[in-house]
Amino acid sequence: MAVIDVRDLTRTFRARRGREVTALDQVTFQVEQGEALGLLGPNGAGKTTLSRVLTTLLVPTSGTARVAGFDVVRQPREVRRRIGLVLGGDRGLYGRLTARQNLRYWAALQGLDTRAARRRTDDILEVLGLSGRADDRVETFSRGMVQRVHLARALLGEPDVLILDEPTNGMDPHAGAGFRELIRTLTSGGTTVILTTHDMQEAQALCSRVALIDHGRILRIGSTAELLAGIQAPRALTAQGVPAETAARIAALPGSAVTDTAGNLTAHPADEDSLSQALLLLAHARAVSISVTAPSLTEVYRTIIEDREFAL
Ligand SMILES: Nc1ncnc2c1ncn2[C@@H]1O[C@H](COP(=O)(O)OP(=O)(O)O)[C@@H](O)[C@H]1O
Ligand SMILES: [Mg+2]
Repeated sequence: MAVIDVRDLTRTFRARRGREVTALDQVTFQVEQGEALGLLGPNGAGKTTLSRVLTTLLVPTSGTARVAGFDVVRQPREVRRRIGLVLGGDRGLYGRLTARQNLRYWAALQGLDTRAARRRTDDILEVLGLSGRADDRVETFSRGMVQRVHLARALLGEPDVLILDEPTNGMDPHAGAGFRELIRTLTSGGTTVILTTHDMQEAQALCSRVALIDHGRILRIGSTAELLAGIQAPRALTAQGVPAETAARIAALPGSAVTDTAGNLTAHPADEDSLSQALLLLAHARAVSISVTAPSLTEVYRTIIEDREFAL
C-alpha cells in the first residue's frame, strides 16, 4: 500500500476580480514507504499548495489524498499525528529561546509529558548534531542551524511522512550537504519524504523519483533515468583556451556551441559523430579542461518546462 496516495486532486482559489486560479489540476500520484519524491517546478506551479493539502492545512476542491492510510479531509487528526512539515521560511521558532527550550515547548504542545518531552528532545538534538548548541538562543544560529531546528521540531512526533517545502533554500553549500545527509538517513530508516526544491542536484541526489509540476499539473514523474530516457538531450562538452578558429569549426558542426571572448566553450553536439569531431578539434588546438558530461535533471527540466511554456 502506498504511504501517500493522491487521486485527481484539484484545488482552486478565487483570486482578485473573481478570477479563478487552478493551483492543482487533477493531480494523481503515489509514493511508497521510504521513497523520497521531489517536486520541481517554477514559482506558482502549485508545489506549496500540494504540501499544504497533504499536511491538512488546506482542503482540496475535489479529489482525494491519503497519507499513511488516512484521508486528509475526513481524518485530519490521524494524518497530523503521522506527518512532519518543514517550510523554507524562518518563522515558527522563538529566537529568544534556546534550541532545547523551543523543542521542549513543541513536544509539550504535541501532548508529550515533561519527562517524555525531555527525553525526546535530547534524542533529537543528538541525532541532528545540535547537542553542542542546544542551550544557545536560536536567534544566534546560522540559516543552516535554524533549518536543523525546524527539522528537529518536525521529527519530534516520529513522523512516517516528512513534507519539506524548500528546506535548504538560502543555506550555504556546507549546511545544505549536512541537511541532505540527514534526509538520506531518514529515508533509509523508512521515512517517506516529499521534497520541494529548486536545486536540481539536490533533487537528483536525494529523490528516487521526481515530479515536474507546472500550472497545477504533473507534466512528468519518474526517476531521473526514466525522465532522461524521455528526452533527447545531448551531452554537454566544455573546454577552455579554445581559439576562435576552432570555436567556429565546432559551431559549424550539428548541434549548438557558444564560446566567450576568453575562449571558454560550451557545446551540445547533436550526435556521437559531431562529439568526436569536436573533441579532435579541441585536442589539435591544445584546448584545456576538456570535459563531457551526461545530461542531468537540469536538461530534463529545461526541456519539459520550456517546451510547456513555449506551447502556451
Ligand atoms: N491562498 C491563496 N489565494 C489565492 N491564490 C493562491 C493562494 N495560494 C496559492 N495561490 C495561487 O496558486 C498558485 C500555486 O501557488 P503555490 O502552490 O504557492 O505555488 P509554488 O509553491 O509552486 O510556487 C499560484 O498561482 C498562486 O498565486
Ligand atoms: Mg512554494
